[in-house]
Amino acid sequence: MSIVFNEGTKTFHLFNREISYLMMVLPNGQMGQLYFGKRVHDREDFSYLYETLPRPMAAYVFEGEYSLSLEHVKQEYGVYGTSDFRRPAVEILQQNGSRLCDFRYKGHEIMGGKPKLSGLPATYTEKEEEAETLILTLEDPLTGAVLQLLYTIFAKGGILARSAKIMNGGTETLHLTTAMSLCMDLPDYDYEWLQFSGAWARERHLKVRKLEQGILAVDSRRGHSSHEHNPFIVLKRPWANEFQGEVIGFSLIYSGNFLAQAEVDTHDTTRVLMGIHPMGFDWKLEKGESFQTPEAVMVYSERGLNGMSQTFHKLYRKRLARGYWRDKARPILNNNWEATYFDFTEERLVEIAGKAKECGVELFVLDDGWFGERSSDRAGLGDWVANPKRLSRGITGIAERIEELGMKFGLWFEPEMVNKDSDLYRKHPDWILSTPGRNVSHGRNQYVLDFSRKEVVDCIYGMMEKILSEAKVSYIKWDMNRSITECYSAALPPERQGEVFHRYILGVYDLYERLNTQFPHILFESCASGGGRFDPGILYYAPQGWASDDSDAVERLEIQYGTSFCYPISSIGSHVSAAPNHQVFRNTPLNTRANVAYFGTFGYELDLNKLTEDEQEMVKSQIAFMKEYRELLQFGTFYRLASPFEGNITCWMAVNEEQTEAVVGWYRTLCHVNMPYTRIRLHGLNPDLCYEESGTGKTYYGDELMNIGLVTTDGMSGQAEENTGDYGDFGSRIYVLKAVR
Ligand code: DGJ
Repeated sequence: MSIVFNEGTKTFHLFNREISYLMMVLPNGQMGQLYFGKRVHDREDFSYLYETLPRPMAAYVFEGEYSLSLEHVKQEYGVYGTSDFRRPAVEILQQNGSRLCDFRYKGHEIMGGKPKLSGLPATYTEKEEEAETLILTLEDPLTGAVLQLLYTIFAKGGILARSAKIMNGGTETLHLTTAMSLCMDLPDYDYEWLQFSGAWARERHLKVRKLEQGILAVDSRRGHSSHEHNPFIVLKRPWANEFQGEVIGFSLIYSGNFLAQAEVDTHDTTRVLMGIHPMGFDWKLEKGESFQTPEAVMVYSERGLNGMSQTFHKLYRKRLARGYWRDKARPILNNNWEATYFDFTEERLVEIAGKAKECGVELFVLDDGWFGERSSDRAGLGDWVANPKRLSRGITGIAERIEELGMKFGLWFEPEMVNKDSDLYRKHPDWILSTPGRNVSHGRNQYVLDFSRKEVVDCIYGMMEKILSEAKVSYIKWDMNRSITECYSAALPPERQGEVFHRYILGVYDLYERLNTQFPHILFESCASGGGRFDPGILYYAPQGWASDDSDAVERLEIQYGTSFCYPISSIGSHVSAAPNHQVFRNTPLNTRANVAYFGTFGYELDLNKLTEDEQEMVKSQIAFMKEYRELLQFGTFYRLASPFEGNITCWMAVNEEQTEAVVGWYRTLCHVNMPYTRIRLHGLNPDLCYEESGTGKTYYGDELMNIGLVTTDGMSGQAEENTGDYGDFGSRIYVLKAVR
């Protein structure tokens, strides 16, 4: 990997074995974009890629000449209001009312490794040689505003991480109203746009659209990355698929309001913008102050969507997630939420936990309802003290009882929220986000604490810290169950209200960071009514997240499949729940529920006492299976093979690094009679190794499995007197393949 600057041609070349990124200083001093894609040779002069043509109706920068029209030039960090009419990367409101700026190249620095982004989650390096970073410094001479553009190229993988920092180096107060993390002008628009969208309990469904002149965008203005959209998009060539062809993934390491957008202009250039949503954003920069944007990561792959996903998985698993749990197989848990909801006593919990232990569960999680006056969602949030009517010896007592059973104990919190019926609210009614003189909307009877205020975060930290220091808590599920409305902080002056959304997220990150530091062995699982804040920002603090409140196995195929485009399998919280399912009332076989949940963190979301003895035996073998294969499933190389968004069959697989073991998950939504012969081609195996299929003892070479395929044909359904397991709706199979020679 290398970052080369050619002084004569003022061109920059960032490259590793897979990608090249080319830029140059334009004649007016702004930065121009020349190329991003597959690696090309380094050479002195790439300036031929800076193309200009005199065009009718264009506006030109230099008097008397007809070459530089910013509208027709690919740039690094575009500005609106001079001769570029596309959506901008940066906008600064000045005291005279103007929003124009003109950032000109001043200098640059190249350093080994990667600097930290203060207060923000970001990818990191452990050794300097893992990456190189270019810091470009530009200045707007009129206002004195300084712009730093950061580019980190990793030694391995087609990865480029980007962010921007804007400093007020002048004397007047500035208002930053747009500051994107990434602006990328691509030379054509022959792409399909992939987004991962949905709703509560229907998160991250893959949607594909074709780019055309105009704008495509996804965003969140809800204060969290949201169930509706994810801060991740993909541009893929129309001929690219899961296994081959060019794709570029764009991912924002941020958990708040975001915008991800592609604008195709009149001359077929595609401008991708990604960053904090400019709507309502207004950051006041006094003299000497600076603003750091979140980081955006671009991944280029010529090995199709699976190639891109594998690069993201590895990066986010190894160099975004941190701490004790980063590389550890995740404990198999039993959560009491769908088993009891708010209706539990200590004895009932111990009864559920006892059966869980007997089946092999390692961690028992006490969900909502253990604190304050919380017996429904109407009261108690904010009072993080155990309710003695439910837990006679508090959290310390129940944690001890669970530990005595031989399991670890985990606990649910919703730190950012408060009910009006709570001691915290009664004491500090001004601690919620609310706009003066306006109605304050509730969501699930709760209000959002103003996490932009340090004293609020301090108070919540104090309550959590007390419990965690006294009791043996090994896991925290951090929930967040409503979007932010009437966003306004009583502690900030009027001209700083445009900062509240971002300051709120900084407060969330601060609380996470303090807890991570103080309790490094606690495993954090993020949650926001399921998958409402499933984003890379949170992964930095919590290496796994509850993917959705929809725990039905068939629904989960789509949710987990969609999630896997960006996020590693080790981060996808997935459990077996009761049948009929509580969200869709569907009956799915117990084996299918587990076969789906294996491709995630795995656990149970039900009272195992309520299963029949046969079912309990099945659960024991499911847990034994997961214990044997969880490293492979969670940390192996993951391939999507057949999509639930395209047909009746879903298939995916994980292979270990040595390519000696693989687990294939095969799922059929609806059963049909007299079905065709079927095969599925596997990937990632060693063509020369011979693999044995566990259970049947059949053997195949890797090249057979990858070129001819694994035979998945069913028996003759529609005539059997009894279902031997293969037939029926929602059937599934797990194939385990082990190299024998
Ligand atoms: C929403 C979560 O997604 C559920 O798993 C559960 O923790 C409830 N909140 C509790 O209120």
